Amino acid sequence: MTDKVLFEVTEDNLETGLRGVPVGFCTTSFVDPQKGLFYRGKAVSELTNHSPEEVIYLLLYGKVASEQELQEFSQQLKSRGHCSQAVIRHIESLPRQGHPMKLFTEALLILGMLESQEDYQEDCLNLIAKIPHVAAAVINYHAGWGDTPAPNSNLGYMANFTEMLRVPEADKTALQEALTLFNLLHYDHGGGNLSAFVSKAVASGLEDIYGAVAAGMCALEGPRHGKANQDCLEFVKEVIDDLGEDASVDDVEGFIRKRLENGELIFGFGHAVLRAEDARATILYELCHKKFTDHPLAKMALLLREAGPKVLKENPKISNPYPNVDAISGATLSAAGFPYPEYYTVLFGLSRIVGISTQIVYERCFARSGKGTPIVRPKYIYKPA
Ligand code: MLT
Repeated sequence: MTDKVLFEVTEDNLETGLRGVPVGFCTTSFVDPQKGLFYRGKAVSELTNHSPEEVIYLLLYGKVASEQELQEFSQQLKSRGHCSQAVIRHIESLPRQGHPMKLFTEALLILGMLESQEDYQEDCLNLIAKIPHVAAAVINYHAGWGDTPAPNSNLGYMANFTEMLRVPEADKTALQEALTLFNLLHYDHGGGNLSAFVSKAVASGLEDIYGAVAAGMCALEGPRHGKANQDCLEFVKEVIDDLGEDASVDDVEGFIRKRLENGELIFGFGHAVLRAEDARATILYELCHKKFTDHPLAKMALLLREAGPKVLKENPKISNPYPNVDAISGATLSAAGFPYPEYYTVLFGLSRIVGISTQIVYERCFARSGKGTPIVRPKYIYKPA
């Protein structure tokens, strides 16, 4: 370690959500403002043809798995992937009112209470393996879609999740493709996104991984973070309600201008770190271009991609006028046969738990030559009211 100055904190940096202030190391991923997300140094666009097991292995162990390693790892995920009946029974006795993220967070606490090994590395692997079963049980129960089948050990990670999800009348092939892509793109987003930061802070007090990640899922539930994908889809629907399904790009441009004049929000544009179109969004736009141009939501999201930056760029105060992943993820899921926005944040959580748990293992077991990071305890400056 050196005492090199990385950042000088001034009063202007206070009460800005720690924007740009370094607070630690992240070994799993980083976000380049122009090029977007990299997992262990690899651009996400290079990873979309890989299986979830391959990408999870890369994130967990920092290297590409050999064929044998991949086989053993996939087997590990399968053998650890069942939650006990007791966990599922408790999930299915939770209240169904409110947002499904509340049930998802509760489910993580229940899983920890009943199945924690009190070992960050073991629990990390168990959690990643079991979370598809948990998420499927939460969604099926909340939606009233019936009992969740047990994981099928002949299926891969996301094929299994798609199979356990009892979505009515879905074309499972299209659905699995979209769910897998969504899952791969949301595993991690650097160290400082709110859910990762909160989870690591809670784990720094030596809470187990289940409680720490549950805290992170409360953070993810907020509309400024993981619930943004649901709100963005509502926005796309609003544009269609106002302009109709056959609107032109000029109509959409006019709609955005009118909303801005009225001081209303335009959802799905901008990001705390990115200064170009989100690489994750680009990948989903490509899928929509290829497969879903006839679907009204995908079509409108593509028009918003064209019109949004054009209008937003005119305002010099807007540092990033480009779409982020939330601008297109909901429309993609809907077009692929999952038109249930209230579950999109659960799908985000299902995925993000991979990166967060891996980051927690680094901070608890490897940082500072294995000592782990100390309890998070920033300084607040006293300001008499
Ligand atoms: C994320 O994927 O976590 C979001 O883009 C938010 C962020 O990076 O801060």
